[in-house]
Amino acid sequence: MNIKTFKGEKFPLELHKVRVVQKLNFPPLKRRVKSLQEAGYNMFLLKNDDIFLDMLTDSGVNAMSDNQIAAMNQADDSYAGSATYFRLEKVVLEFFNKKYFLPTHQGRACEHILAKVFVKPGNAVPMNYHFTTTKAHITEVGGVVEQFFLNEALISDSKNPFKGNMDLSLLEDYLDKHAANVPFVRMEAGTNLIGGQPWSLDNYEKVSKICRDHHILLVLDASLLSDNLYFIKTREEAYKDASIKEILTKISDLSDIIYFSARKLSFSRGGGIVTSNLAAYEAMRPLVPLYEGFLTYGGMSIREMEAMAVGLNETYDFDIISQGPIFIKYMVDELDKLGVPVVKPAGGLGCHLDVAKFIPHVNHHQYPAEALGSALYLVGGIRGMERGTLSEQRDSLGVEPESEVELLRLALPRRVFTMSQIKYAIDRIYWLYQHRELIGGLEWVMEPEVLRFFYGTLRPIGGWENKLIKVLKKDLGQEE
Ligand code: F0G
Repeated sequence: MNIKTFKGEKFPLELHKVRVVQKLNFPPLKRRVKSLQEAGYNMFLLKNDDIFLDMLTDSGVNAMSDNQIAAMNQADDSYAGSATYFRLEKVVLEFFNKKYFLPTHQGRACEHILAKVFVKPGNAVPMNYHFTTTKAHITEVGGVVEQFFLNEALISDSKNPFKGNMDLSLLEDYLDKHAANVPFVRMEAGTNLIGGQPWSLDNYEKVSKICRDHHILLVLDASLLSDNLYFIKTREEAYKDASIKEILTKISDLSDIIYFSARKLSFSRGGGIVTSNLAAYEAMRPLVPLYEGFLTYGGMSIREMEAMAVGLNETYDFDIISQGPIFIKYMVDELDKLGVPVVKPAGGLGCHLDVAKFIPHVNHHQYPAEALGSALYLVGGIRGMERGTLSEQRDSLGVEPESEVELLRLALPRRVFTMSQIKYAIDRIYWLYQHRELIGGLEWVMEPEVLRFFYGTLRPIGGWENKLIKVLKKDLGQEE
């Protein structure tokens, strides 16, 4: 919750206490320089022992509740038909108000199944915005992604509370012409790549109607649904008095198929697909034992399944789902006050720096967001995630598309960081902003063909990092 102090200061307050802690390393500058070189300037290749604040993602690293940990100890193991699975199935089906559940090992496994079952070569999948793994699975089977986002979705300095909305007229026009070539429409809750931006329930309802009018399935990616639920309740007038459960049921009823990464939704691990459409369920079901594991675990451990069941039930609790968004808003607002370009309004998932404005002198093909990520790691031992051109994929001719946005995402895994750690991150980002002219671009050393951002290696162009380190030592009196 947010409080206002007697002196008039406003800040978010943690509604949880810390009972288990993990010691963190603060790697000295010399070590950070070496780790970054060893990691080929790729944030994914850094070792977390060499990181002070790991803001790479909130995926699978949110802090679990005492009840989740307790449930994990009650897990019942069995290759087929474990009591744990049936506990989970009951919770999932109640949560989404659907009839059938297919468990998977994580979110992208659902995308794999959906793409394999529904997308044929040449098909197009319209969506509010793509996610990296979603797009990779659709293109892998010969399909293409069509994005119908609002113009404002890509404008970082915006007041639009629902930048994740689908552009309804673009969707309708497209379906009027191409419905026969569209296996499903996909909406992503808490739209990840544009800064964790939500859509409104009003927009979702209209998307659903357009899909029904065209007899096309509506698929919801619910990985970041808990943030989106929070934003519907706090930003959409019509739902301010609705309970989270009521909003959730309405969303579920408008969706034909819902899938999710439980590494995000439910603060656990694993994933799954739900539907009440028997034909769709039967078409997808054979792929679970083939790629994931038997139908009563789908590649998940029983401990993960128990934690997911409790985590989903905790999603009904407004205090729990508001923790992320209010701390993210604090970080965004403070940076904004300091003039640092950030994605506004604050979304879910994390604080997103607008790199195109932060270092406009570094062009798309020199991967500015990864370069800024490298610089922030050097400066503060903080790891963020590039969300820009590096996360794109070359086309069949090898041409590299320029990403519509260049963001550095600083994820705030829920309940993990303290206020002083967030203040520290704000300070280091501010320092970097004051010295932004020192940051240069990156070039490839080794570039993989698919999902290159995960394990490709790079190097700084022209040795800019040395100058940055020199000024950093002088200004912040860094070690050695
Ligand atoms: N959909 C969305 C919206 C996601 O954010 C993710 C993962 C996935 C699908 C895939 O799920 O990782 O369980 O296979 N996002 C992570 C992130 C990787 O860091 O934002 P997964």
